[in-house]
Amino acid sequence: MENPSHSQFPATRLRRLRQNPAVRRLVQEVTLAPSNMVLPLFIRSGKGLRQPIRSMPGHSQISPDQLPAELEEVQKLGLGGVILFGIPDSKDATGSDSTSDGGIVQQALAVAKRAAPDVLVMTDVCFCEYTSHGHCGVVNDKSGRVDVDNDATLELIAAQALSHARAGADIVAPSGMMDGMIGALRRRLDQHTFEHVPIMSYAAKYASGFYGPFRDAAESAPQFGDRRSYQMDPAASPGQALREVELDLAEGADMVMVKPALAYLDILRDVRVRFPGVPLAAYNVSGEFSMVKAAAERGWIDERAVALESLLAIRRAGASILLTYWAKQAAAWLR
Ligand code: PBG
Repeated sequence: MENPSHSQFPATRLRRLRQNPAVRRLVQEVTLAPSNMVLPLFIRSGKGLRQPIRSMPGHSQISPDQLPAELEEVQKLGLGGVILFGIPDSKDATGSDSTSDGGIVQQALAVAKRAAPDVLVMTDVCFCEYTSHGHCGVVNDKSGRVDVDNDATLELIAAQALSHARAGADIVAPSGMMDGMIGALRRRLDQHTFEHVPIMSYAAKYASGFYGPFRDAAESAPQFGDRRSYQMDPAASPGQALREVELDLAEGADMVMVKPALAYLDILRDVRVRFPGVPLAAYNVSGEFSMVKAAAERGWIDERAVALESLLAIRRAGASILLTYWAKQAAAWLR
């Protein structure tokens, strides 16, 4: 009963395959490539604007006229693309800037597609940056229960996605965690000849403390309450994430996302195992990025080593696509 894979020391020495860079490289399987990385960008109106985001070193809110230079760099680095988040000039109860063909993201898309038509541009489809209350949909008081009104939000979220598609979005990525969201978008896009536009669903998005710096960057913190009635509970059964993914796929999602990434590697793995053929994105969110930046600034850790190790871990767990604030740096490091 000699099974070589079960033979033991001294016959088996796992260090043999670690002894030098050449052999280590030969047996590597998990890869990091710029083409799988997506860079988030925060867009607000203005001219020549590059307003640094304090809690996210190296990132800024930029005006649309800064996009051509940004996209040229993205293209040179070979990144997979960018995802746009808009910060409107004025917010209201229904987030009307986000559904307007003249809205900030729509303006940015026009500039982007004119300057660099081959760079893939996705858009975050949500309301929290656009609403005066900072919630991801329409807030209604139904029978004394104040909450985001799911079905009323579907109508608006479909309008937003359609407007993004009209303005040139290559992929729309709804992040509001409304039930029926993917179906509503798919139907609306198809009715208007955008059946070729893929949907990347933020399928398993958790109510997370790791979004803190993003809410500064996008000025999207909820003005009352929190997002726990629509984003997932970190303590929910991991099976719930699979149900979210399954429903979104049934409604027509082309790709699904797990968010955040590092604290949810188990979820990434579960989704990868259960749905092996579906492109799986992971959002390495603002808090995950800023914690490393802050520690590195103090000289407590090596940013490059920790960032690349984190991205590798997210890939190893099963992600095919990485949304990460390190996209540009990582591409440069990988050269
Ligand atoms: C919602 C949205 C959020 C993020 C991406 N899309 C914030 C939220 O749900 O509060 C967070 C991303 C990050 O933290 O980097 N539009």
